[in-house]
Amino acid sequence: FSTARITAIGTYTPDRVLTNEELEQMIETSDEWIVKRTGIRTRRIAAEQEFTSDLIFAAIENMLSRYPVELSDVDYIIVATSTPDTIFPSMAARVQAKFSIAQCGAIDVSAACAGFTASIQLANSLLLSGVYKKILVVGADAMSKITDYTDRSTCILFGDGAGAIVMEYTTDQPGCLLASFSRTDGNGGHQVYLSQLAPTIEQTPIQTNGKIVQNGREVYRWAVTNVSKGIQQLLADHEYTIDDIDWFVPHSANMRIVEAILERTGIPREKTLTSMEQFGNTSAASIPLALDQAVQQGIVKQGDNLLLYGFGGGLTEAAVFIRW
Ligand code: ACO
Repeated sequence: FSTARITAIGTYTPDRVLTNEELEQMIETSDEWIVKRTGIRTRRIAAEQEFTSDLIFAAIENMLSRYPVELSDVDYIIVATSTPDTIFPSMAARVQAKFSIAQCGAIDVSAACAGFTASIQLANSLLLSGVYKKILVVGADAMSKITDYTDRSTCILFGDGAGAIVMEYTTDQPGCLLASFSRTDGNGGHQVYLSQLAPTIEQTPIQTNGKIVQNGREVYRWAVTNVSKGIQQLLADHEYTIDDIDWFVPHSANMRIVEAILERTGIPREKTLTSMEQFGNTSAASIPLALDQAVQQGIVKQGDNLLLYGFGGGLTEAAVFIRW
């Protein structure tokens, strides 16, 4: 064999819980509306002086406390985030310094809610090509820093969190990546975005306020249609069926999107792992948060087939079908 395996996982969410009842005090909304439309009950919010790098460090510490994994020989770091404390230095470079990793490459990946799965796809290719032997992959976002808490159509959705995994080259076990898939529809870029600089995307005027702006209905329609078709295409192209999926881990944008995807694809609800009920939409962290909860509870077992499917701003999708 000449393959790549996931050998460790860790996660972190801030202590501060923001409930639907608290949001009722901040904007005109109700717990009932939020739960019915999104399935979200609570989110975690970073402290004022707690940033994405802090969430990442804590997720990695959590991983180190649970797995006998060495970081000193990591030779590449990939951090997927849309909320870096600084655009440069990258969050990946901050991780290199924090954990005193001697020699390694480090990049941040910008693919919004598809960032974590896109990074697994990248890491797997770098490992299989023989360029690197051990890669630290992180998905992390402090969405509260870019959320407009006066906009009731978006502020009910987002939360903060981070997840980290280690992927290693191996020659004695079957690989973890069974199939992968990625595609982008940049013409829909203006449907959900964060802008501080340019006042247009192509010819479309946008707000330059440093906060998330979205057309919720369009994002909903795009996600349900494209992710459902994407799942069917990924499986068919590699001669798998829905029955080969032990666990489906979609990006936890909101429960209604996930339910519509389940209805269209026939994936059973009881095989689906989500994190939005407790943590809201945590963007690049939502998939590792849902996965790690199930790993810690012993629900996901070694040898299980997992379909991780990220989708979001771009508009972009990245899916990986992996064996745990
Ligand atoms: N509380 C109460 N009422 C609200 C709220 C709220 N928080 N937000 C909006 N409303 C009202 C609107 O003002 C509107 O009222 P009106 O009919 O009097 O004008 C009504 O509810 C319906 O508004 P819509 O925006 O049409 O509501 P919709 O049914 O589309 O639900 C939602 C909004 C939940 C955002 C939905 O569009 C959605 O799930 N979209 C997907 C977007 C998403 O998940 N994005 C995440 C980021 S991108 C990603 O991760 C993929």
